[in-house]
Amino acid sequence: MKRSPGPAFFSVPAEAGASGSERSAVIDGLKAESSWVSPKYLYGPLGSRLFEAVTELPEYYPTRTERSLLGSCRDHIANAVGPEPTLIDLGAGNCEKASSLFASLKPRQYVAVDISVEFLRHSMLHLQREFPQIKMLGVGMDFSTSMRLPDEVRRENRMFFYPGSSIGNFTPENALAFLSRIRAHCADGSLLIGIDLVKPASILQSAYDDALGVTAAFNLNLLNNLNALIGSDFVVGDWQHRAVFNASLSRIEMHLEARRDLTVSWPGGARRFARGERIHTENSYKYALEDFKALVRRAGFRELRAWTDERDWFALCHAIA
Ligand code: AVI
Repeated sequence: MKRSPGPAFFSVPAEAGASGSERSAVIDGLKAESSWVSPKYLYGPLGSRLFEAVTELPEYYPTRTERSLLGSCRDHIANAVGPEPTLIDLGAGNCEKASSLFASLKPRQYVAVDISVEFLRHSMLHLQREFPQIKMLGVGMDFSTSMRLPDEVRRENRMFFYPGSSIGNFTPENALAFLSRIRAHCADGSLLIGIDLVKPASILQSAYDDALGVTAAFNLNLLNNLNALIGSDFVVGDWQHRAVFNASLSRIEMHLEARRDLTVSWPGGARRFARGERIHTENSYKYALEDFKALVRRAGFRELRAWTDERDWFALCHAIA
C-alpha cells in the first residue's frame, strides 16, 4: 500500500490587528445594555473538554442522534458524493465523526479545520497511521470569519462537512453568509451538514440544563476564559447558568445571571451588574427542515437530500453546489 508521509499542518493567521480589536469587541459586548459575549469564548483547553462531556450526557441527544444517522446513511452519502472526494471537516476536533465516514467515502484527501491547529495534531497523527492511503492536512483557522484554505487543499470534488448542528450557533443571517462562503469554495462539490430540528421545549430545556450541571460548568467556564483574555476579575461563584427556549425566535438561549449586585473590572474599565442581570452567551437555533432547506438554496446550493431519525429530532442534509 502506498504510504503517505504524514499529515501536514498549517495555521491561517487571523486578520492583522485582530487581537487588539478582539479584546475591545469583547469589552463592548460586556458593556452593552444587554450584555453579551460571543459563544466562541466557551471553548479553550477546558471548555472543549467540558463540551465533549456535554455530548455524552443522557439529556444531550444531538451528538448521539447524528452519530447514529451517520452510521445508517453512510452508503447513501457516499453515493451522493461520488468518487475520491476531498473531505473538508469544519470544526474537526478529535476527527471522530469524519473518520467514521472514511470507509464508505474513501476520500482522496482529508482536511481537518479547527480553531487551533495544536488541537488537531494528536488526533491526526493517530488517524494518519490508521489510514496511510489518505493524504491529510490539519488547518488552524477561525473558519467562522474567514475561509482562506491553503493551496494544498485539492479543488476536485470538495465535500464540506459541518456536523453537530453548529450552524445553529449562528443567527440565520450569519448562517446564510457562512453557507454562501462555503458555496464559493466548492465549485463542483457539496456540503454535508447536521441540523437540530424544532421539538418540544421541555426536551430542549433539559438538553441545555442537564441534571449533573455539566452544561452549567461549560457556560460558567466562559468567565475564566474572559478573565484570561481581557484581564477581568469575574468570580465564577457570583454567577449562575440559565437556559431558556425563545419560542418566537426558535432558539435556546444560554445566559449567565448575576447572583448579587456586583462590579466586574478589567484594565481600563468596569461594569456593574445588578442581581438577576444576565450576560447572553449563546444561541442555538432549532430549524424546521423546510426552512433550513430554503436557507441552503438561498446560499446557492441546488439538489438537496435530507435524512432524519425516527423521532425527527435531527437531520443530516447533503446539498450539491
Ligand atoms: C456546539 N453547539 C452545536 C452546541 C449546541 O448545542 O448549540 C453547543 C452547546 N451549548 C450548550 N450545549 C451544547
